[in-house]
Amino acid sequence: MTEKDIVPYRPGLEGVTAGISSVSDIVAEENRLIYRGYDILDLAAHAEFEEVAYLVLHGDLPTRSQLETFKAELLKHRELPSELYSVLKNLPKSSNLMGALQVGVATLGAMEPLANDNSHEANLQKATKLTAQMATLVANGWRILQGKEPTPPSNSLNHASNFLHMLFGKEPDEFYGKVMNLTFILYAEHGYNASTFTARVIASTLADMHSAVTGAIGALKGALHGGANEAAMEAMLAVGTPDRAESWVLEQLGQKKRIMGFGHREYKTGDIRATILRNYVQKVAERAGDMKWFEIQDIMQKVVLREKNLHPNVDFPAAAIYYMMGIDIPVYTPIFAAARITGWSAHIIEQHDNNRLLRPRSDYNGPRDLAFKPIDQRG
Ligand code: ACO
Repeated sequence: MTEKDIVPYRPGLEGVTAGISSVSDIVAEENRLIYRGYDILDLAAHAEFEEVAYLVLHGDLPTRSQLETFKAELLKHRELPSELYSVLKNLPKSSNLMGALQVGVATLGAMEPLANDNSHEANLQKATKLTAQMATLVANGWRILQGKEPTPPSNSLNHASNFLHMLFGKEPDEFYGKVMNLTFILYAEHGYNASTFTARVIASTLADMHSAVTGAIGALKGALHGGANEAAMEAMLAVGTPDRAESWVLEQLGQKKRIMGFGHREYKTGDIRATILRNYVQKVAERAGDMKWFEIQDIMQKVVLREKNLHPNVDFPAAAIYYMMGIDIPVYTPIFAAARITGWSAHIIEQHDNNRLLRPRSDYNGPRDLAFKPIDQRG
């Protein structure tokens, strides 16, 4: 490699193109998000998560018969192998759910007959299975950590409603099923974000899909990425009441702290996913008969925009919605993972289909030419 081939270092890799992909397009300047050519606004308004999962994985919207086949395949894999339940039941009850999710996916990978087959066809099969299994892993994994029995998946409910059915162990409210469907769609895919990039790096070594997904879950967990939905809810709980929202934000900013659920590397004038979900914060609050979290969000948004010119990202409204639906906070980032499995898988497939090892370089800034001293001369 010659000097002229070397691209200068950009902190955080900001603005660096690290690959070419046809899975999604973030048109930040227009505040648009496109999955495989379809605008997220249309998908959010009209689609079922299963259709979007098919679109993200296969590259186009399914016909009716393709959708039926895909749904049947998902249904077949909703239940987890009994060996995996044994593993989950053996985890200490204090385990965190993201860790349990990594254990779960790694276990499924260890048991996967097609584990070492990275062909397009095998990867699609594994992705479909994982899409079904991750929802069960999150819902029943959480139940197990709470000392409850897992709920057998439903054979009749769609993916999002079945998730709520398993999580709560009862028939889900129809409206909440629709809201969950929407958040699954909005969380499904988002370009070369940190967790997807992690998945692609792992896949680029020719490691299998389950290994790449296990790594992606780890990358998602951090508060600067998927962990922000849990952190945002903790922040709102710390605010407590609408009358404290402005002073709380100002206090945090005064201490140079970040307000979780705000800001985005790509979107600087707003995240369309947050705009879509904002209406649902209101709708869910009205349904719950308590506008508190809507009002707190409203004030926080105005103050953060005024003080920092930062807009909320998808995690901010999602957190309030999940909270008002009665979902425990440690389940929020795992839900993100259960939706993002489609995007991760599509990127892993794209990587495997046209692979070159992802191996950037670093500029060394440590010492050179130090004299080696044998250990007994080092004090
Ligand atoms: N609250 C307060 N200040 C912020 C925030 C925030 N949420 N986000 C960025 N800033 C400030 C930083 O402190 C920094 O200020 P400085 O220049 O005075 O030091 C400046 O804005 C730039 O911050 P960077 O981290 O360099 O910006 P970047 O574009 O790389 O960050 C990120 C994007 C990590 C998402 C950031 O906005 C953030 O930390 N947000 C909070 C965490 C969050 O919500 N993450 C979820 C992202 S969406 C997703 O993963 C689904």
